[in-house]
Amino acid sequence: MQSFEHLLEQFNRYFDQKHFPDHTPTLYEPAEYFLGLGGKRVRPVMLLMGNELFDQIHPDAWDAGVAVELFHNFTLIHDDIMDQAPLRRGKPTVHERYGASTALLAGDVVFVRGYEYLNKVNVQHLQRLLALFNVTARQVCEGQQLDMDFEKRSSVKLEEYIHMIELKTSVLLAASLQMGAILGGAGEGNQHHLFEFGKNLGIAFQIQDDYLDAFGDPSKFGKQVGGDIKANKKTFLLIKALEVASGEAQANLLALLQSDPPEKVADMLALYRETGVDQWAMELKEHYYQEAMRHLDAIAVLSSRKSALRELSAFLIQREH
Ligand code: IPE
Ligand code: IPE
Ligand code: MG
Ligand code: MG
Ligand code: MG
Repeated sequence: MQSFEHLLEQFNRYFDQKHFPDHTPTLYEPAEYFLGLGGKRVRPVMLLMGNELFDQIHPDAWDAGVAVELFHNFTLIHDDIMDQAPLRRGKPTVHERYGASTALLAGDVVFVRGYEYLNKVNVQHLQRLLALFNVTARQVCEGQQLDMDFEKRSSVKLEEYIHMIELKTSVLLAASLQMGAILGGAGEGNQHHLFEFGKNLGIAFQIQDDYLDAFGDPSKFGKQVGGDIKANKKTFLLIKALEVASGEAQANLLALLQSDPPEKVADMLALYRETGVDQWAMELKEHYYQEAMRHLDAIAVLSSRKSALRELSAFLIQREH
Protein backbone atom coordinates (compact mmCIF):
# COMPACT_ATOMS: atom_id res chain seq x y z
CA MET A 1 0.00 0.00 0.00
CA GLN A 2 1.47 3.30 -1.07
CA SER A 3 1.00 6.78 0.32
CA PHE A 4 -0.71 9.64 -1.49
CA GLU A 5 2.66 11.33 -2.14
CA HIS A 6 4.22 8.22 -3.58
CA LEU A 7 1.30 7.46 -5.90
CA LEU A 8 1.11 11.09 -6.96
CA GLU A 9 4.80 11.20 -7.78
CA GLN A 10 4.54 8.08 -9.95
CA PHE A 11 1.40 9.30 -11.66
CA ASN A 12 2.96 12.67 -12.40
CA ARG A 13 5.97 10.99 -13.96
CA TYR A 14 3.61 9.19 -16.33
CA PHE A 15 1.30 12.15 -16.96
CA ASP A 16 3.63 15.13 -17.24
CA GLN A 17 4.67 14.85 -20.86
CA LYS A 18 3.55 16.40 -24.10
CA HIS A 19 0.04 15.14 -24.94
CA PHE A 20 -0.44 16.71 -28.37
CA PRO A 21 1.38 17.01 -31.71
CA ASP A 22 3.39 20.04 -32.88
CA HIS A 23 1.10 20.98 -35.73
CA THR A 24 -1.89 23.30 -35.25
CA PRO A 25 -0.25 25.02 -32.28
CA THR A 26 -3.14 27.50 -32.04
CA LEU A 27 -5.24 24.57 -30.83
CA TYR A 28 -2.77 22.35 -28.97
CA GLU A 29 -0.70 25.00 -27.20
CA PRO A 30 -3.67 26.22 -25.16
CA ALA A 31 -4.43 22.60 -24.23
CA GLU A 32 -0.82 21.95 -23.17
CA TYR A 33 -0.79 25.28 -21.32
CA PHE A 34 -3.70 24.19 -19.19
CA LEU A 35 -2.41 20.68 -18.49
CA GLY A 36 0.93 22.22 -17.53
CA LEU A 37 -0.74 24.18 -14.72
CA GLY A 38 -0.90 20.98 -12.69
CA GLY A 39 -3.62 20.71 -10.10
CA LYS A 40 -3.96 18.29 -7.21
CA ARG A 41 -4.48 15.21 -9.43
CA VAL A 42 -6.73 13.64 -6.83
CA ARG A 43 -8.90 11.65 -9.27
CA PRO A 44 -6.14 9.50 -10.79
CA VAL A 45 -4.65 9.00 -7.34
CA MET A 46 -8.06 7.84 -6.13
CA LEU A 47 -8.24 5.43 -9.06
CA LEU A 48 -4.85 4.00 -8.09
CA MET A 49 -5.89 3.75 -4.45
CA GLY A 50 -9.18 2.09 -5.41
CA ASN A 51 -7.13 -0.49 -7.29
CA GLU A 52 -4.56 -0.99 -4.53
CA LEU A 53 -7.23 -1.58 -1.94
CA PHE A 54 -7.81 -4.98 -3.56
CA ASP A 55 -4.67 -5.93 -5.46
CA GLN A 56 -1.36 -4.73 -6.86
CA ILE A 57 -1.66 -1.84 -9.29
CA HIS A 58 -2.81 -3.16 -12.66
CA PRO A 59 -0.67 -1.85 -15.55
CA ASP A 60 -3.80 -0.37 -17.18
CA ALA A 61 -4.55 1.76 -14.11
CA TRP A 62 -2.04 4.39 -15.28
CA ASP A 63 -3.82 4.92 -18.60
CA ALA A 64 -7.23 4.88 -16.93
CA GLY A 65 -5.86 7.46 -14.49
CA VAL A 66 -4.67 9.68 -17.33
CA ALA A 67 -8.13 9.36 -18.90
CA VAL A 68 -9.94 10.60 -15.78
CA GLU A 69 -7.45 13.42 -15.22
CA LEU A 70 -7.83 14.56 -18.85
CA PHE A 71 -11.60 14.36 -18.56
CA HIS A 72 -11.45 16.45 -15.38
CA ASN A 73 -9.27 19.06 -17.10
CA PHE A 74 -11.69 19.25 -20.00
CA THR A 75 -14.55 19.97 -17.56
CA LEU A 76 -12.51 22.72 -15.92
CA ILE A 77 -11.69 24.47 -19.22
CA HIS A 78 -15.38 24.51 -20.15
CA ASP A 79 -16.48 25.30 -16.57
CA ASP A 80 -14.28 28.39 -16.55
CA ILE A 81 -16.00 29.64 -19.70
CA MET A 82 -19.42 29.03 -18.18
CA ASP A 83 -18.44 30.65 -14.87
CA GLN A 84 -16.52 33.48 -16.56
CA ALA A 85 -13.61 32.68 -14.28
CA PRO A 86 -10.40 34.68 -14.83
CA LEU A 87 -8.06 32.47 -12.73
CA ARG A 88 -7.36 28.78 -12.29
CA ARG A 89 -4.46 27.17 -10.43
CA GLY A 90 -3.10 30.67 -9.90
CA LYS A 91 -2.86 31.43 -13.63
CA PRO A 92 -5.12 32.98 -16.29
CA THR A 93 -7.82 30.59 -17.54
CA VAL A 94 -7.67 29.28 -21.12
CA HIS A 95 -10.51 31.48 -22.41
CA GLU A 96 -8.95 34.51 -20.70
CA ARG A 97 -5.67 33.88 -22.53
CA TYR A 98 -6.79 32.49 -25.87
CA GLY A 99 -10.48 33.44 -26.23
CA ALA A 100 -13.66 31.44 -25.64
CA SER A 101 -13.82 29.73 -29.03
CA THR A 102 -10.31 28.31 -28.76
CA ALA A 103 -10.97 27.33 -25.14
CA LEU A 104 -14.04 25.35 -26.25
CA LEU A 105 -12.01 23.43 -28.80
CA ALA A 106 -9.02 22.98 -26.51
CA GLY A 107 -11.42 21.45 -23.98
CA ASP A 108 -12.86 19.18 -26.65
CA VAL A 109 -9.46 17.83 -27.73
CA VAL A 110 -8.47 17.20 -24.12
CA PHE A 111 -11.70 15.20 -23.73
CA VAL A 112 -10.98 13.15 -26.87
CA ARG A 113 -7.38 12.59 -25.74
CA GLY A 114 -8.84 11.10 -22.57
CA TYR A 115 -10.71 8.52 -24.65
CA GLU A 116 -7.51 7.66 -26.49
CA TYR A 117 -5.91 6.74 -23.16
CA LEU A 118 -8.95 4.83 -21.99
CA ASN A 119 -8.86 2.86 -25.22
CA LYS A 120 -5.42 1.50 -24.24
CA VAL A 121 -7.08 -0.55 -21.47
CA ASN A 122 -7.15 -4.29 -22.10
CA VAL A 123 -10.38 -5.71 -23.61
CA GLN A 124 -10.93 -7.72 -20.43
CA HIS A 125 -11.82 -4.48 -18.58
CA LEU A 126 -12.45 -1.97 -21.32
CA GLN A 127 -16.20 -2.36 -21.71
CA ARG A 128 -16.94 -1.98 -18.01
CA LEU A 129 -14.64 1.00 -17.59
CA LEU A 130 -15.99 2.70 -20.70
CA ALA A 131 -19.61 2.24 -19.59
CA LEU A 132 -18.86 3.75 -16.18
CA PHE A 133 -16.81 6.58 -17.70
CA ASN A 134 -19.61 7.45 -20.15
CA VAL A 135 -22.42 7.48 -17.58
CA THR A 136 -20.24 9.66 -15.37
CA ALA A 137 -19.41 12.10 -18.18
CA ARG A 138 -23.09 12.50 -18.95
CA GLN A 139 -23.94 13.06 -15.28
CA VAL A 140 -21.26 15.75 -15.01
CA CYS A 141 -22.92 17.58 -17.93
CA GLU A 142 -26.31 17.27 -16.21
CA GLY A 143 -24.85 18.68 -12.99
CA GLN A 144 -23.19 21.56 -14.81
CA GLN A 145 -26.47 22.47 -16.54
CA LEU A 146 -28.36 22.37 -13.21
CA ASP A 147 -25.65 24.59 -11.68
CA MET A 148 -26.34 27.19 -14.39
CA ASP A 149 -30.12 26.77 -14.19
CA PHE A 150 -29.93 27.47 -10.46
CA GLU A 151 -28.10 30.78 -11.06
CA LYS A 152 -31.31 32.09 -12.63
CA ARG A 153 -33.67 30.77 -9.97
CA SER A 154 -34.56 32.79 -6.91
CA SER A 155 -34.71 29.81 -4.60
CA VAL A 156 -33.16 26.37 -4.55
CA LYS A 157 -33.68 23.73 -1.89
CA LEU A 158 -30.73 22.19 -0.07
CA GLU A 159 -31.61 18.74 -1.47
CA GLU A 160 -31.53 20.17 -5.00
CA TYR A 161 -28.11 21.68 -4.35
CA ILE A 162 -26.79 18.38 -2.96
CA HIS A 163 -28.17 16.53 -5.99
CA MET A 164 -26.51 19.06 -8.32
CA ILE A 165 -23.06 18.79 -6.68
CA GLU A 166 -23.35 15.03 -6.60
CA LEU A 167 -23.68 15.14 -10.38
CA LYS A 168 -21.17 17.84 -11.27
CA THR A 169 -18.46 16.77 -8.84
CA SER A 170 -19.01 13.65 -6.73
CA VAL A 171 -19.73 11.03 -9.34
CA LEU A 172 -16.35 11.58 -11.00
CA LEU A 173 -14.50 10.98 -7.73
CA ALA A 174 -16.70 7.95 -7.04
CA ALA A 175 -16.26 6.55 -10.56
CA SER A 176 -12.47 7.04 -10.42
CA LEU A 177 -12.35 4.89 -7.29
CA GLN A 178 -14.65 2.30 -8.83
CA MET A 179 -12.62 2.11 -12.03
CA GLY A 180 -9.61 1.31 -9.88
CA ALA A 181 -11.60 -1.28 -7.94
CA ILE A 182 -12.66 -2.98 -11.17
CA LEU A 183 -9.01 -3.19 -12.28
CA GLY A 184 -8.17 -4.56 -8.83
CA GLY A 185 -10.74 -7.33 -9.21
CA ALA A 186 -13.13 -6.15 -6.48
CA GLY A 187 -16.53 -7.80 -6.06
CA GLU A 188 -19.82 -5.95 -6.60
CA GLY A 189 -20.47 -5.27 -2.90
CA ASN A 190 -17.08 -3.74 -2.32
CA GLN A 191 -17.38 -1.68 -5.52
CA HIS A 192 -20.70 -0.36 -4.27
CA HIS A 193 -19.32 0.76 -0.89
CA LEU A 194 -16.27 2.30 -2.53
CA PHE A 195 -18.50 4.24 -4.93
CA GLU A 196 -20.70 5.46 -2.07
CA PHE A 197 -17.58 6.43 -0.12
CA GLY A 198 -16.44 8.52 -3.09
CA LYS A 199 -19.88 10.04 -3.60
CA ASN A 200 -20.18 11.27 -0.03
CA LEU A 201 -16.57 12.39 0.08
CA GLY A 202 -17.16 14.25 -3.19
CA ILE A 203 -20.10 16.10 -1.66
CA ALA A 204 -17.92 17.13 1.29
CA PHE A 205 -15.19 18.09 -1.22
CA GLN A 206 -17.55 20.40 -3.16
CA ILE A 207 -18.88 21.89 0.09
CA GLN A 208 -15.27 22.76 0.93
CA ASP A 209 -14.82 24.17 -2.59
CA ASP A 210 -17.87 26.41 -2.17
CA TYR A 211 -16.68 27.45 1.27
CA LEU A 212 -13.24 28.39 -0.10
CA ASP A 213 -14.83 30.29 -2.98
CA ALA A 214 -16.31 32.60 -0.35
CA PHE A 215 -13.85 32.49 2.56
CA GLY A 216 -10.62 31.17 1.03
CA ASP A 217 -7.24 32.88 1.16
CA PRO A 218 -6.71 34.36 -2.34
CA SER A 219 -2.97 33.72 -2.13
CA LYS A 220 -3.58 29.98 -1.68
CA PHE A 221 -6.90 29.29 -3.45
CA GLY A 222 -5.65 29.83 -7.03
CA LYS A 223 -9.12 30.90 -8.19
CA GLN A 224 -10.94 34.19 -7.92
CA VAL A 225 -12.44 34.43 -4.42
CA GLY A 226 -16.09 35.53 -4.54
CA GLY A 227 -16.73 34.19 -8.04
CA ASP A 228 -19.75 32.19 -6.87
CA ILE A 229 -21.26 35.26 -5.22
CA LYS A 230 -20.77 37.36 -8.37
CA ALA A 231 -22.50 34.68 -10.47
CA ASN A 232 -25.41 34.24 -8.01
CA LYS A 233 -24.46 30.57 -7.59
CA LYS A 234 -26.89 28.80 -5.33
CA THR A 235 -24.31 27.35 -2.99
CA PHE A 236 -25.33 25.92 0.37
CA LEU A 237 -24.01 29.14 1.95
CA LEU A 238 -26.59 31.22 0.12
CA ILE A 239 -29.35 28.63 0.51
CA LYS A 240 -28.82 28.41 4.25
CA ALA A 241 -28.42 32.18 4.63
CA LEU A 242 -31.77 32.71 2.87
CA GLU A 243 -33.33 30.13 5.15
CA VAL A 244 -32.12 31.50 8.48
CA ALA A 245 -31.94 35.27 7.80
CA SER A 246 -34.70 37.26 9.39
CA GLY A 247 -36.31 40.60 8.48
CA GLU A 248 -33.68 43.06 7.39
CA ALA A 249 -30.94 40.53 6.63
CA GLN A 250 -33.37 38.59 4.44
CA ALA A 251 -34.32 41.74 2.51
CA ASN A 252 -30.65 42.66 2.09
CA LEU A 253 -29.84 39.21 0.75
CA LEU A 254 -32.64 39.33 -1.82
CA ALA A 255 -31.69 42.85 -2.89
CA LEU A 256 -28.04 41.83 -3.35
CA LEU A 257 -29.06 38.88 -5.53
CA GLN A 258 -30.91 41.21 -7.85
CA SER A 259 -28.15 43.75 -8.22
CA ASP A 260 -24.48 43.90 -9.07
CA PRO A 261 -22.85 46.59 -6.94
CA PRO A 262 -19.03 46.75 -6.70
CA GLU A 263 -19.29 45.75 -3.03
CA LYS A 264 -21.51 42.73 -3.72
CA VAL A 265 -18.93 40.16 -2.55
CA ALA A 266 -18.03 42.02 0.64
CA ASP A 267 -21.68 42.64 1.50
CA MET A 268 -22.66 39.03 0.87
CA LEU A 269 -19.77 37.76 2.98
CA ALA A 270 -20.90 40.03 5.81
CA LEU A 271 -24.39 38.55 5.56
CA TYR A 272 -22.98 35.02 5.54
CA ARG A 273 -21.07 35.78 8.73
CA GLU A 274 -24.05 37.53 10.32
CA THR A 275 -26.26 34.50 9.71
CA GLY A 276 -23.56 32.09 10.90
CA VAL A 277 -23.60 29.97 7.75
CA ASP A 278 -19.79 29.84 7.70
CA GLN A 279 -19.96 27.81 10.92
CA TRP A 280 -22.79 25.65 9.66
CA ALA A 281 -20.68 24.80 6.61
CA MET A 282 -18.34 22.80 8.82
CA GLU A 283 -21.22 20.73 10.22
CA LEU A 284 -22.63 19.99 6.78
CA LYS A 285 -19.20 18.92 5.52
CA GLU A 286 -18.64 16.76 8.58
CA HIS A 287 -21.97 14.99 8.00
CA TYR A 288 -20.99 13.84 4.50
CA TYR A 289 -17.46 13.05 5.63
CA GLN A 290 -18.82 10.72 8.32
CA GLU A 291 -21.16 9.11 5.83
CA ALA A 292 -18.17 8.52 3.54
CA MET A 293 -16.21 6.93 6.39
CA ARG A 294 -19.11 4.60 7.17
CA HIS A 295 -18.91 3.22 3.61
CA LEU A 296 -15.13 2.97 3.75
CA ASP A 297 -15.45 0.94 6.96
CA ALA A 298 -17.94 -1.38 5.25
CA ILE A 299 -15.47 -2.43 2.54
CA ALA A 300 -14.42 -5.99 3.25
CA VAL A 301 -10.64 -5.68 3.21
CA LEU A 302 -8.17 -5.33 6.08
CA SER A 303 -8.55 -1.94 7.75
CA SER A 304 -4.81 -1.31 7.39
CA ARG A 305 -5.24 -1.29 3.58
CA LYS A 306 -7.55 1.73 3.90
CA SER A 307 -5.09 4.11 5.53
CA ALA A 308 -4.12 5.89 2.29
CA LEU A 309 -7.78 6.62 1.50
CA ARG A 310 -8.35 7.86 5.05
CA GLU A 311 -5.35 10.18 4.74
CA LEU A 312 -6.54 11.45 1.35
CA SER A 313 -10.06 12.08 2.67
CA ALA A 314 -8.81 14.18 5.56
CA PHE A 315 -6.66 16.23 3.17
CA LEU A 316 -9.50 16.78 0.69
CA ILE A 317 -11.95 18.25 3.15
CA GLN A 318 -9.41 20.46 4.91
CA ARG A 319 -7.65 21.69 1.82
CA GLU A 320 -7.07 25.40 1.24
CA HIS A 321 -6.72 25.22 -2.54
C1 IPE B 1 -12.01 21.64 -9.08
O1 IPE B 1 -11.45 20.39 -8.84
C2 IPE B 1 -13.42 21.47 -9.51
C3 IPE B 1 -14.28 20.89 -8.48
C4 IPE B 1 -14.94 19.81 -8.69
C5 IPE B 1 -14.40 21.54 -7.19
P1 IPE B 1 -10.03 20.27 -8.15
O2 IPE B 1 -10.04 21.07 -6.88
O3 IPE B 1 -9.69 18.84 -8.04
O4 IPE B 1 -9.09 20.99 -9.22
P2 IPE B 1 -7.54 20.81 -9.52
O5 IPE B 1 -7.42 19.77 -10.58
O6 IPE B 1 -6.84 20.43 -8.25
O7 IPE B 1 -7.11 22.16 -10.03
C1 IPE C 1 -17.19 22.72 -11.04
O1 IPE C 1 -17.71 23.33 -9.91
C2 IPE C 1 -17.40 21.29 -11.21
C3 IPE C 1 -16.87 20.90 -12.55
C4 IPE C 1 -15.86 21.47 -13.12
C5 IPE C 1 -17.51 19.84 -13.24
P1 IPE C 1 -17.09 24.79 -9.69
O2 IPE C 1 -17.47 25.70 -10.78
O3 IPE C 1 -17.39 25.19 -8.29
O4 IPE C 1 -15.53 24.46 -9.79
P2 IPE C 1 -14.39 25.56 -9.67
O5 IPE C 1 -14.58 26.25 -8.35
O6 IPE C 1 -14.53 26.47 -10.83
O7 IPE C 1 -13.12 24.75 -9.68
MG1 MG D 1 -16.18 27.12 -11.75
MG1 MG E 1 -18.97 25.84 -12.20
MG1 MG F 1 -16.04 26.29 -7.04
